[in-house]
Amino acid sequence: MYILAFESSCDDTSVALLYNDQLIAMQTHTQVEHERTQWVVPELAARLHADHVFTLLNDVLEEGGITLDKVDIFAATKEPGLIPSLLIGKTVAKTLAHIFKKPLIWVNHIEGHIFSVLLERTPWDIIFPSIVLSASGGHNDLYLWRSLSVIEKIGQTRDDSAGESLDKVWRAMGLWFPAGPQMDQLAQQFRGVSDIKFPLVLPTDSWDFSFSGIKSAAIREIEAIIQKRHLTVQDQQKIAFSYQSTVTNILSTRLIQATKHFHGKSVCLVGGVSANSDLRKKVKQFCDEENIPFLLPSSLRYCGDNAAMIGIRAYYTLQS
Ligand code: KG4
Ligand code: ZN
Repeated sequence: MYILAFESSCDDTSVALLYNDQLIAMQTHTQVEHERTQWVVPELAARLHADHVFTLLNDVLEEGGITLDKVDIFAATKEPGLIPSLLIGKTVAKTLAHIFKKPLIWVNHIEGHIFSVLLERTPWDIIFPSIVLSASGGHNDLYLWRSLSVIEKIGQTRDDSAGESLDKVWRAMGLWFPAGPQMDQLAQQFRGVSDIKFPLVLPTDSWDFSFSGIKSAAIREIEAIIQKRHLTVQDQQKIAFSYQSTVTNILSTRLIQATKHFHGKSVCLVGGVSANSDLRKKVKQFCDEENIPFLLPSSLRYCGDNAAMIGIRAYYTLQS
């Protein structure tokens, strides 16, 4: 069974072809045009999705060696995301399903991220219940994954997501969007002990997260330096290190607390921020000590937004 999946919820246009649960081909285009504004402009994002989606589709079909009439199932991200962006992938998938008289499966974007751990794996690799942290630019959620078809949300951010807060601190330092991978590298270049400290904010009455307080503290710290003098590369390294390690401490502490509380038998880390080296190290250390499996997307290209995760989620929807 061939599945053709579309993802266009934010600033990545992605098309993937799967044969059952096996990824055959995937093409993803990331929009760099938002550098000018530093934020994803929904109207512009939608136009760019429309500009690129058919080229990506043709490339994927060519790489997969099939024509559109051989596709058995179409799938697309339904929500959440930027409405104008979502509409492009949804409209293309719906139109193709209509023309070729094939079923169409709508996929929730965050469920797509969760199921990204199943790319290049089988469900037997996940020991349930699993505690899942999905952290990206658009959301920051904690889940209790009880079985393949039962996913319960147990916590979420009350304000910014971890990725969004990293992006905003990065921007305050006058650096180019997007932040994630570059902040990760800059933080690794810092040597010594940082005198900049941010509090470990963890709401005590729930499993929620909150990043806006530490984000504002970091931005105030940057502004205080800029008022006195030019921000040096050493300052940027120190701030990146201090801020990123606070964010990864918050995320890993919450994940560890929830795993202990809910007796999680495995831990999954997904979404754009799951690419972060410091966060991976902290969660891995805990899982190694507790001797429980730690599952990350099997490739970095499955961490950020991609259509393979939409296709695999659609495959398991069909199975259940
Ligand atoms: O999942 P994603 O591609 O899109 C959304 O659904 O939002 O996540 C994008 C987010 C951005 O905020 C980006 O800064 C962050 O993931 N990110 C990272 C890293 N790579 C991407 N954050 C920390 N460390 C990274 N290596
Ligand atoms: Zn995402």
